[in-house]
Amino acid sequence: MRQHVNPLSRNFDEIERIPSLIEMFDDSKLNLHLDVGCAAGEVLFELALVNTSWNYLGIEIRERLVKTAKVKVQERAFKNLYFVFGNANNIVDNVQGKFIFKNVKSISFNFPDPWFKKRHYKRRIIQPEFINNLSKLLQEGTLIFIKTDVKELFDYMDYTILSNFNFKKIEKKDFNYSESFNPKKFLTNREKYVISNQFDIFESIYIKNCD
Ligand SMILES: C[S@@+](CC[C@H](N)C(=O)[O-])C[C@H]1O[C@@H](n2cnc3c(N)ncnc32)[C@H](O)[C@@H]1O
Repeated sequence: MRQHVNPLSRNFDEIERIPSLIEMFDDSKLNLHLDVGCAAGEVLFELALVNTSWNYLGIEIRERLVKTAKVKVQERAFKNLYFVFGNANNIVDNVQGKFIFKNVKSISFNFPDPWFKKRHYKRRIIQPEFINNLSKLLQEGTLIFIKTDVKELFDYMDYTILSNFNFKKIEKKDFNYSESFNPKKFLTNREKYVISNQFDIFESIYIKNCD
């Protein structure tokens, strides 16, 4: 399985049709959490099983992973979990996907690809324009969670999000996870790997300002 695909490739210019929330979920009114770059979505299966008062939507650019995840959702008859294939940047840009954001209460970017070479920085998911687009779509009070084991990527994402004056940081020590999308703090696959190798984890939470 290829670990990286180039999100700027023209292959990802078109996105799949994004169904309505009613088509995606049994109860479309529940709080919605969006996980961007979810890979095979293992942690989303854990979350959706336990937190039935939330809906979960994973976006992933590697098509084969999304196909497999969709089959698993059907086999296990999940009613609060859905996966969309495509470049998250294009999905946020695309008019037909914008309705999703009225229910989104939180978004996670867990261990996004670092793209170490400077000329590849533009492949990173979090870009000023992307954050600007999100800030226009998200409701006040919506949370963004970022996590990575790459300090330089963390600094870049932190700077990019905070450069948009619609977001401010929440101190992790003041944050109550019990009402969040992940009350039991389930770990993503990459997070398990990082912890088992005793690498550092850099993380932050941001909130869209309430004026
Ligand atoms: C290092 S993996 C982390 C996977 C998972 N979040 C975790 O913590 O285990 C990063 C994932 O982001 C996906 N990805 C990268 N750029 C993306 C984009 N623009 N849109 C959607 N997914 C993307 C990659 O294909 C990959 O599956």
